[in-house]
Amino acid sequence: MCGIVGCVSEINATRVLLRGLERLEYRGYDSAGVAVIDGNGDLALRRRVGKLIHLMDAVDREPIQGNVGIGHTRWATHGGVTEPNAHPHLSYDGNIALIHNGIIENYEVLKRDLVGRGRTFHSETDTETLVHRIAEHRESCDSLYEAVRRTLAEVEGAYGIVVIDRREPDTIVCAREQSPLVVGVKEGEAYLASDVPALLDYTRDVIFLEDGDIAVLRPGEISITDHDGNAIERSITRIKWDLSQAEKGGYRHFMLKETHEQPRVLGEIMLGRIDAAAGRVNLVEGGEPVLPEDVASRVDRVVLIACGTSWHAALVGAFWFESFAGLPVQVDYASEFRYRTFHVDERTLVVPVSQSGETADTLAAVKEARRRGAPCVAIVNAVGSSMTREVDGVLYTRAGPEIGVASTKAFTTQLAGLYLLAHALGTMRGTLGGDAARARLEELAGVHDLVARALEQESAIESLAATVQSREDFLYLGRGLNYPVALEGALKLKEISYIHAEGYPAGEMKHGPIALIDDGFPVVCVATPGAVYDKVFNNLEEVRARKGRVIAVGAEGDDRIAGLADDVMWVPGAAEAVAPIVNVVPLQLLAYHVALIRGCDIDQPRNLAKSVTVE
Ligand code: M6R
Repeated sequence: MCGIVGCVSEINATRVLLRGLERLEYRGYDSAGVAVIDGNGDLALRRRVGKLIHLMDAVDREPIQGNVGIGHTRWATHGGVTEPNAHPHLSYDGNIALIHNGIIENYEVLKRDLVGRGRTFHSETDTETLVHRIAEHRESCDSLYEAVRRTLAEVEGAYGIVVIDRREPDTIVCAREQSPLVVGVKEGEAYLASDVPALLDYTRDVIFLEDGDIAVLRPGEISITDHDGNAIERSITRIKWDLSQAEKGGYRHFMLKETHEQPRVLGEIMLGRIDAAAGRVNLVEGGEPVLPEDVASRVDRVVLIACGTSWHAALVGAFWFESFAGLPVQVDYASEFRYRTFHVDERTLVVPVSQSGETADTLAAVKEARRRGAPCVAIVNAVGSSMTREVDGVLYTRAGPEIGVASTKAFTTQLAGLYLLAHALGTMRGTLGGDAARARLEELAGVHDLVARALEQESAIESLAATVQSREDFLYLGRGLNYPVALEGALKLKEISYIHAEGYPAGEMKHGPIALIDDGFPVVCVATPGAVYDKVFNNLEEVRARKGRVIAVGAEGDDRIAGLADDVMWVPGAAEAVAPIVNVVPLQLLAYHVALIRGCDIDQPRNLAKSVTVE
């Protein structure tokens, strides 16, 4: 997610904006820009690709004097990493500048209409549609606020927007829908940002805007309305966090913050991509289909390649490709795949999965697969990363920067991305359609609410963590779709708490790992309803018979699992196909709280790098 700063300030706005953007640097970005209403009443715009220092140099070379302005650090979602795609964007008449975080779902329709009326676009972003449409409305109304309000009535999607108009030189208008905005309150001034750290140098009194709010900021004056123009009162919160706490949104660690971001980012990955009524997934990036029809109909097998957590996501994805698209699927560690005599050709759809898009093994495997003629469609989080330049199509997971080394939101959004791609492949090939296609999409569309409910169990999981944190070995079990979830739970525990944890398919336990189990040995098992539920239950009976301690992930209301397990981490009931996205949440929280109690360096575990760019 990108960073936003805005100010109606008594001092030079450019200084305020650049400092605020520096405070947001920790989140990662690929370009930055500011727009300030200068002393002549003109909009002065500076944008640069790369680090903030480039933007600072540009401002040093051509300084801007003015008190009202907006600034942005961009982490690309629509359109590549280029200066024209950086924010702020200017309207066709040069009067208005706008910044937008989020995704405008109906931007293609809006853009078509604007182009039809002769508007020229200078970027590949969805954002630019907003600024031109606001400028059109502004021609027939007397305030920026009203033009923004009319535009938002036409927009579908998620947004945090901030807008300035050189004809109203003491005003910023901003609005929020599913993308955070915080207003900073100070006598004679007004500030705003996407995140609290950008405000702390100027004020600690803030108003957290809520979805549907439109706010107008003037010197020492803040007014908020809903979309119908009705005034809204929002209370002022005094921020007591220090800067490092503020960067983590008040959470103790990035990992915990990112775990709690999952409901929001799972909502975002689906924006504009699901037509549940038609039972179809719409995957387009930069106007091009992510998976062209001719590729979908030509391929006769799928190969998924990845490393670490992304490999676990790929293992789950295999189930969806098999059942939705009816194709044989192979899942491989990229580091193994590239050194085998592997078989791929133009009839093999290769799907690399990578958060960073920079993992050396995955990149090398993709290059080789493409050299052999295989079409490659990647599931990637980092826009503009090396992987995105090596493949034929990219499905971005839109999780925003993930700073904690232990992947959380990257994993669940990869799952959602794989589900979308498998669904699209199935409907294109005709193996999925009608009610089944609709039902599968409805199940996915509701998953972010289930994840939010799973997160509500955190305090119970924290108490459980206290009772197991001194153990040195854990076994994690699951079957079917939940076997990779068990692997991911074990990886989370070992990487951040340094406890030895092994993930295993529950049915394989009796072929070896059962020898480990003795009195009190912790066995964490994902045991939610589904085709193999009874089988898993039998495996857990085997653990109990040897006095192992059964810690289950169970679906709310399941008395049977409550009767068998020593402890249950409850999750809301989810359709079997999407359950892995929900079931991993308690395992993330368990690993986090165990590591916290053990005093581990959670965000930067020893020996690990966020992105493994060497072999
Ligand atoms: O960036 P990638 O998804 O390609 O990274 C692959 C692994 O290094 C990564 O998933 C790693 O296992 C996780 N960060 C562990 O939590």
